[in-house]
Amino acid sequence: MQVYLNGQYVDESEAVVSIDDRGFLFADGVYEVVHVYRGQPFEWDSHMARLQRSLAGVGIAGVDLKGLQTPRDSLIAQYGRKEAALYIQITRGVHRRTHAPPAPGTVTPTVLMWVRPVDPIPNETVMAGVSVITVPDDRWAKVWIKSIGLLSNVLAKGKALEKGAYDAVFVRDGMVMEATSANVFRVVDGVLQTAPVTNYILPGITRQVVIDLARGAGYGVLEEPFTVDELLNSDEVFLSGTLTEVLPVTTVDGQVVGSAAGAVARDVLARLHQRAGLR
Ligand SMILES: Cc1ncc(COP(=O)(O)O)c(C=O)c1O
Repeated sequence: MQVYLNGQYVDESEAVVSIDDRGFLFADGVYEVVHVYRGQPFEWDSHMARLQRSLAGVGIAGVDLKGLQTPRDSLIAQYGRKEAALYIQITRGVHRRTHAPPAPGTVTPTVLMWVRPVDPIPNETVMAGVSVITVPDDRWAKVWIKSIGLLSNVLAKGKALEKGAYDAVFVRDGMVMEATSANVFRVVDGVLQTAPVTNYILPGITRQVVIDLARGAGYGVLEEPFTVDELLNSDEVFLSGTLTEVLPVTTVDGQVVGSAAGAVARDVLARLHQRAGLR
């Protein structure tokens, strides 16, 4: 399979990045993951808008995001299957190791894009719901930037798996923020609630799609902070994310919050699939 690296199509086995790449040395870069449904990148413009914000947030300039459309289409066509995960990573570029970021224009950002299979979450898992644990949010204060520096997320996910759970939910000052690669929703009396957009969550593209679809379907939606206690006392809990889609949660820290996928989560997931052209 070929990947797109710095303007070239190369076989993935031959795609090489310098040991001086600042992404490798400092996690000095940002990324996006896009879900390809029926051969079409879902919510492309929203992903590009967020990528632009992330690039601006870390001061990486000189990347032509419009220019990513040709390699995007070429990689999707080469992949051939209808559903895929498309990954884009942009780092500040290659520069001899020093903390000082090289002045804009003096290095060329490294641009990588690939298309690979989606690991589907089995339908039985979706219908049964997954379990999560809560963990203290020890991430930096600029979580809104989709940085490739994901060590806290990686460790939290590992801790969840160690405990037999599917994922971990970050809690900051008693408030539920988000999961390691998804946003968190709770449902009470048919009203959806999710953490508001602040520096401390990633403004998920799927989060916004869920909000729009839910409002369009007549559900109330609150973008307001909530506590772990409130999470535990919900009618339903679910995660939202590009590859996670809408994933019901039925256990939080070992406490049951539902016996199976809730009606609202199932409805919103069906609407998401419809929006993606699957139904
Ligand atoms: C920390 C975090 N929160 C939320 C999300 C969900 O965002 P999106 O719906 O754009 O995939 C992700 C996605 O990777 C994430 O890493």
